[in-house]
Amino acid sequence: MLYIHTPPGDANWANLFRQALPHMPVAAYPETVDDAAVEWLATWRPPQGLFARFPNLRAVFALGAGVDRFLQRDDLPAHVPVIRLTDAGMAQQMIEYALFGVLRFQRNMDGYVRQQQAGVWQPLPQRAAAEVRVSVLGLGELGVRICQALLALGYPVSGWSRNAKTVNGVDCLHGPAGLEQLLARTDVLVCLLPATPETRGLLDEQRLTLLPTGAAIINAGRGDLIDLNALRALLDSGHLQGAQLDVFPEEPLPVDHPLWRHPQVFITPHVAANTLPGPSVQQIADKLRALQRGETVAGVVDRQRAY
Ligand code: NDP
Ligand code: OXD
Repeated sequence: MLYIHTPPGDANWANLFRQALPHMPVAAYPETVDDAAVEWLATWRPPQGLFARFPNLRAVFALGAGVDRFLQRDDLPAHVPVIRLTDAGMAQQMIEYALFGVLRFQRNMDGYVRQQQAGVWQPLPQRAAAEVRVSVLGLGELGVRICQALLALGYPVSGWSRNAKTVNGVDCLHGPAGLEQLLARTDVLVCLLPATPETRGLLDEQRLTLLPTGAAIINAGRGDLIDLNALRALLDSGHLQGAQLDVFPEEPLPVDHPLWRHPQVFITPHVAANTLPGPSVQQIADKLRALQRGETVAGVVDRQRAY
């Protein structure tokens, strides 16, 4: 049996899974089931104790790409694989989100918003795409697609990953020394890293200061990658041009947080790339059938590296 745990009232998921897996019993929260019959679980915000309910779990499918919330738990048995979404329609959305940010900083759109509020008609200096180096932290399913989309539009692109990588046309760096080199020549930094013990707090004051004066930051990875106090200080001092932030250490961002009202900060409520039910269910159903045939599947989380 496949059990789906999503917020109450979100019945669409169960229907989609029943259509995609017509031969499999499918149940959805808050239905009562024989817990011992549940072999597969699909969930996004699993409440504490959910994993422990099912003694015969064969795999947990995350209805998202980042699995930090799953791995921080102590009730997920070590032998049960966690399988995340790999793209499933998120890459296109991430491209749009990153491109929106790159364009707003490149074309100084925030400057024009401020000028409009003051009724000022004044062309501002304009940079060509070829003059704006975009660096993408995280060359995974989503990061590589952003690199390729930006390259096709004429931006010079650098990328950073944990292991050495080659992506056609992208200046690829890795490891701590690679990060320092990359930051020093970045105009727009796009963060698409998972939250892991290695990446939490990665962009601290010292590293953020390596960005050249006038650089901008887009964060759609996870909120705890960036020291927000250091970011705010560098925006206030004029070292950084702006920030477009989709993810925060605490979500929703508390109403009294100073970033809400910061003139150089653009905030979105964790919507850079939403989970799309149709493609996600299709992908999970395909992976589930492959696992039943004893095959390997993409997106199995490595618990050691935490992504
Ligand atoms: P992947 O696992 O495919 O890619 C992760 C990338 O990060 C890999 O290139 C990996 O390096 C790199 N990485 C991990 N740890 C380190 C490290 N310590 N140093 C350097 N590089 C590192 O993930 P996805 O591309 O699918 O997703 C990325 C993240 O985006 C998710 O984990 C999630 O947090 C976030 N996300 C946010 C959404 C939103 O709406 N805001 C929606 C979807 C995802 P290597 O290639 O060497 O393994
Ligand atoms: C994800 C997310 O990781 O929505 O999928 O953040």
